[in-house]
Formats: sequence, structure tokens, C-alpha cells
Amino acid sequence: MTIDSRLHDDPLWFKDVVIYQLHVKTFFDSNDDGYGDFPGLTQKLDYIQELGVDCIWLLPFYPSPLKDDGYDISDYTAIHPLYGTMQDFRTFIKQAHKRGIRVITELVINHTSDQHKWFQEARKARKGSRKRKWYVWSDDNTKFPDARIIFLDSEKSNWTWDESAQQFYWHRFFHHQPDLNFDNPEVRKAMLRVMRFWLSIGVDGFRLDAIPYLFEREGTNCENLPETHALIKELRRELDKDYKNKLFLAEANQLPGDVIQYFGNSDECHMAYHFPLMPRIFMALHQENAHPIIDIMARTPHIPFDCQWAIFLRNHDELTLEMVTPDERDYMWKAYAAQERMRINLGIKRRLAPLVDNSMKQIELLNSILLSMPGTPIIYYGDEIGMGDNIYLGDRNSVRTPMQWSVDRNGGFSKAQFASLFAPPLMDPIWGYQALNVESQLLDKSSLLHWMKTIISLRQQHQVFGRGSFEFISSSNQKILAYIRSHEDENVLCLANLSRYPQFAELELSKFAGITPVEMFGQSAFHAITEEPYVITFGPHSFYWLLLKR
Ligand code: NOJ
Repeated sequence: MTIDSRLHDDPLWFKDVVIYQLHVKTFFDSNDDGYGDFPGLTQKLDYIQELGVDCIWLLPFYPSPLKDDGYDISDYTAIHPLYGTMQDFRTFIKQAHKRGIRVITELVINHTSDQHKWFQEARKARKGSRKRKWYVWSDDNTKFPDARIIFLDSEKSNWTWDESAQQFYWHRFFHHQPDLNFDNPEVRKAMLRVMRFWLSIGVDGFRLDAIPYLFEREGTNCENLPETHALIKELRRELDKDYKNKLFLAEANQLPGDVIQYFGNSDECHMAYHFPLMPRIFMALHQENAHPIIDIMARTPHIPFDCQWAIFLRNHDELTLEMVTPDERDYMWKAYAAQERMRINLGIKRRLAPLVDNSMKQIELLNSILLSMPGTPIIYYGDEIGMGDNIYLGDRNSVRTPMQWSVDRNGGFSKAQFASLFAPPLMDPIWGYQALNVESQLLDKSSLLHWMKTIISLRQQHQVFGRGSFEFISSSNQKILAYIRSHEDENVLCLANLSRYPQFAELELSKFAGITPVEMFGQSAFHAITEEPYVITFGPHSFYWLLLKR
């Protein structure tokens, strides 16, 4: 079945889309102040539409001191003045919808900025008072000792002393991000109001940031608690109450067994990231062995039919290695982050193209896996042109540099003075905007951008990728990743050569005997499948998508 890419009335639309993740700040500056803004993003919607994606995930754009790139919110229901006005945002949503593109925003409910008026009021309020109880306080810093510290490179404790409150407050992330107290019904009500506010403006769904950490209970690691799931169910009821076809995406960096709880009984989140799959894709590539992927998928439980994994290669954070063993982490660090400054917390702060030494074959191979594994793929802005990173920038800003549009000043991102840009664009001979930009890749028919458009459009024509079942195919060669996706009358055999050398494999395909596979990019027929093992050869890092149609 082929897909109509307009905003169709389908509660399962999120299974069919390809998501493009971006920060408005980094995309296009329309008023020359050095920061991307909503009018600029609206101007670039044609580009996003032509790329073939049909859902945008926007990183936080709310008023904020920007100490955690906007995940430190100081006002939940406004637009940061650097990024435009509420009217600009409404125009953007309208224009995106007109093009059949949905928009998901961030619901960062675990914590606020310490500059939020709720926290300012809480710290000044009387100890034990209603206002104080909007956050989590303690007279000492010894409670909840089993909760891990997430930002290991910058925080020593989950408690910070507040002079004016004369108490410690709880925070799972930076110390300037106090955690809200969800035991307080007023906080829950406030968050429901925030959600309704953005729904009324027309957003199509929310990424629920840092969702495992909403409650604290002594004797637990304060993650994935039953209270958290009860709260998500409450949010979901509100989401479904007055609106149709809206979405929750859970950001729960946990093992699959814990993550699936966030689907609930189809009454919590529609989607959740498959965090553990991502590093294993990179591991498989480096080890030239399909085993890490096969292993994690074997440990991935089935999910309700109306739920979906969100899968990705890179995003705005470090390539997280929290969900791998210490040995695997060491392996990944050695393989992909030889220099100390490429690492942060338990992860790697590099972009996709530099991770694979700018190898076009490997970038293509990884994207073929991203776009064919079970789940909805997310492409991080700039990765469609193979943008580089700047590991000399602090925090995770290495992967958040301005979008490279052209050879013009500041890479065509902004006409502001260079010194006033929110971050310097890349300017070196390999990754710099003079060498690598959208304009030149549009002119070059062999560019990564053109290739990405082709593969995205191919995926978009076949519902099997978003909705199909998934099964590994037994292969005589461990270097070949082989799986089949099936939906209604469509079967697609996906094969990836993880090796840098040519390979051949014998595949067990007897149940498809009699079918002639057709390669989906070029429509060439391959030799027919028989009861015998199917012999197939591969070039270095090559892949096939073969349509098996009776
Ligand atoms: C997860 C976000 O992806 C990350 O960028 C942020 O720093 C933390 N949540 C804290 O909000």
C-alpha cells in the first residue's frame, strides 16, 4: 500500500513518517541577529519538504537562560524572543501543515530552569509551604542515594544547597535545573495546562523529555517508578480528550524491557526511542559483524500494534553509551572517540559523518539500516549533507553548529557579523561551509543530499518500512546483516554488508522459493529464490533492499 503524504486523518500516522530533528536556533537567521528564528525556519520549509521528511521535531524554543540549550525553561508558554514571536510560531505551524509536515515539540516536565518564577517563588516561600512544595527539598543531601548522576562530567550530586531557601533541592541534570515535585497536584495541573496550551496552537505531539525521573522514592533508583507511569496515563487521557491524532514520544534512555513500560497498555506513549539499538549499530559496523544488532533485537520485546519505536543514528546530545556494558563502552570510545575531547559524560560528542571518517559508503549503509529497521527514523539536521562537528566547543555544542546552506558569508545561515553568531560555523577545508553545503549538494547529482532524498522517497512509498513485521534471516556470513520486513502483500529483504571488503553470503530464504527479488532502487530483477540457499555477493559496505512479491 502506498502512502499519501498529506496530513491524513490516521491515528497511526507516526508509523509512516520520517522525522527531521532540528533546533530553530541553528537553522536559518532571518533578521541577522546571529540566531536562527521561526521566520527563517518557515522560509526553509520548502527545503525540508523536498528532502521528503514529513514530521519535524523541534528542540526547545521557550524563554530560557540557555544553559542547557533551552532544556532549562523559564516560561513554558512563550517563545524565546531570539527565535521570534508567538505569531511567527503559529505561521510556521500553519505553513508546515500546509505542506503535509507535522510538528512535534518538547514537553520538558521533569525540571525547570532555576530562573523560572515557580522556583524563584519556591525558594523564597516558607519552608513546608504550598509554594515551596513545587520542587523537591531536603534539609540534608543524603536522601535517595541510589539515584545515579546523569551529567557525570559536570555534577557531583543530585542535591544542591540553596542559600535563600536554606535547604537542598533535588535535580537529576544540571544544578540549575531543579526537578519539579509531581507529588504536588498543583504541579500536575500546571503541566496539563502547558500541554493544552500548545495543543490549542496546533502542535501534533510532544517529546516527553527525561520522563523516567519524575518521582523520587527512598530505596529505589528513582527511575521508571509506578507513580511515573500513573502520571503519564493521566497526561495521555488529557491528550486524547479534546484532540485527535496527537502523539507522545518517550525519552527514556533505558533497556528495552524498561522502555516498553512507557507504551503501557497503549495508554501511555505512542512512541519511545530505542536507545540501546543505536550504539549497537555503530558497534556492528566497526566489528564488521551483525551480532550486536541481532543480540539487542532478540532482547527487544514485542510492543502493542498501535505503538512504535523511534530510531536514530545521531541527535543533539552525545552518542550515549549508557545502555551498553563497560567493555562495550570502552570499545566504542576506542573505536569512535580516540581523543579525550570527543567524549562527554558516558558518550561521544561527534556527528554522523566524522564518526565514520566521512566515508560516503558507510554513511549510506548506516542510513539504509536507519530507514529499514523497525521503527520511525529520525534524521538529525545537517546529517543529510554529512555535516561535521566542532569538538572544541563546550558541552554538546560540538554537534549544534549552524546549518551550512551555501558558500556565502557564515555559510548562508546568517548575515550577522561573525562574532555575533550563536556559534561559529565550520570553516575548515573538509567540513567547512565552503566545501560542504546544501547549495552545492543540490547542484551535484552525486551528492549525499540527493542520495538521501532518493532513499527517503523510496521508504515513503512503502508502508512496510513503518508498519511491517521484522525477522532476521539466517546468513552463512556474520558480516552480512539480513532481515525481512513484511506487511500485507509486501516483503522487503534488507541486506547490509558491514565489512569494508567484498563479501558473499548464503541466505536461508526457502519460504520465498519461486519469487524473483527486485532491487528497489533500480528495479533490476535478481536471480530467483529456490529451496537451496540463496547466494548473493556484496561490494564493500554495500546494501540491498530487495522486494519479494509473489
Ligand atoms: C534530554 C535532552 O535530550 C538533553 O539535551 C537535556 O540536556 C536533558 N534531557 C535535560 O533536559
